[in-house]
Amino acid sequence: MKEKILQLLRSSDLTVSGESLSGSLGISRVSIWKHIRTLQSMGYTIDAGPKGYRLMDTPDIPYPWEIPRRSGLIHHFEEIGSTMAKARELARNGCPHMTVVVAERQINGRGRLNRTWQSEAGGLYFTVVLRPDISPILSARVNLRSATVLVKTLRRLYAVDAGLKWPNDILVGDKKLCGMLLELEAEGDSVSFINVGIGINLNNDPARDVPTAVSICSLLGNRVSKTAFLCAFLDALELAMKKPLDESVISAWKAYTVTLNRPVQVVTLKETFTGQAVDIDETGALILQTPQGISMKVTYGDCFHTPKTLPNLPA
Ligand code: BTN
Repeated sequence: MKEKILQLLRSSDLTVSGESLSGSLGISRVSIWKHIRTLQSMGYTIDAGPKGYRLMDTPDIPYPWEIPRRSGLIHHFEEIGSTMAKARELARNGCPHMTVVVAERQINGRGRLNRTWQSEAGGLYFTVVLRPDISPILSARVNLRSATVLVKTLRRLYAVDAGLKWPNDILVGDKKLCGMLLELEAEGDSVSFINVGIGINLNNDPARDVPTAVSICSLLGNRVSKTAFLCAFLDALELAMKKPLDESVISAWKAYTVTLNRPVQVVTLKETFTGQAVDIDETGALILQTPQGISMKVTYGDCFHTPKTLPNLPA
């Protein structure tokens, strides 16, 4: 009903009477008034006067009805533990491909390698449930493809010089703009779901607590629409997931990476690897050339870009 009321208010620049809303929707004027009060409490600015109601402003909140073609797939929360946990629950209960859990804030936002992900209001935090018909071996390509779609969407919408740090962080300069977390469940040789969790610093100010982070708002000097970004990304991801997960995934990722041809350190839960990042293989593993001239592959870990040349040290 909220969606229908908004539709009618949006179809007119003028005040719409309670009587006409009530007639069009087949509910009483008191019910209309109650729905209007609810919408106001959800952030919609609706002027209510003797002549009726007028929509003055819409909040930048990705409520399901604000993403019309996908409304049945969007689960919006003002606050949640982690969108990953909710998405896993939905996926295990059989929710469809492209189901999205999105939250304004997370209390237990999760990062890679058991870290926490700071999730204060203003950022965009969501998890998309994907159900590709693939073997788990190809899941790394879903990771790379999702990251490539994300970096391209950021560049297209905001004209920022965003690049991919292996495997799926998005940096602007040396500052982190987005993080991505993947969770997979498989049955035998077939993927049941891959949940792609994304945290993007859009209108928040992460640099206050994490000096190595940056937000779109601080880069552009103005706030941007979370809802518009989410719509654009979901459309691009859905389209990309229809294409075969062939070698083009690797070349597309490479076109946007800032990790290759530079010295790096990769830290896993057990070890640290140092070397020149020379390539990724067909599974997305990072190929390092060690200082001893040995070529090695790293399949996961936290990648740090280390200085290309030694700084000038005092004599
Ligand atoms: C990382 O860079 O360490 C990955 C961060 C992923 C954060 C996102 S925010 C939405 C989703 N829910 C979570 O709890 N984590 C991911």
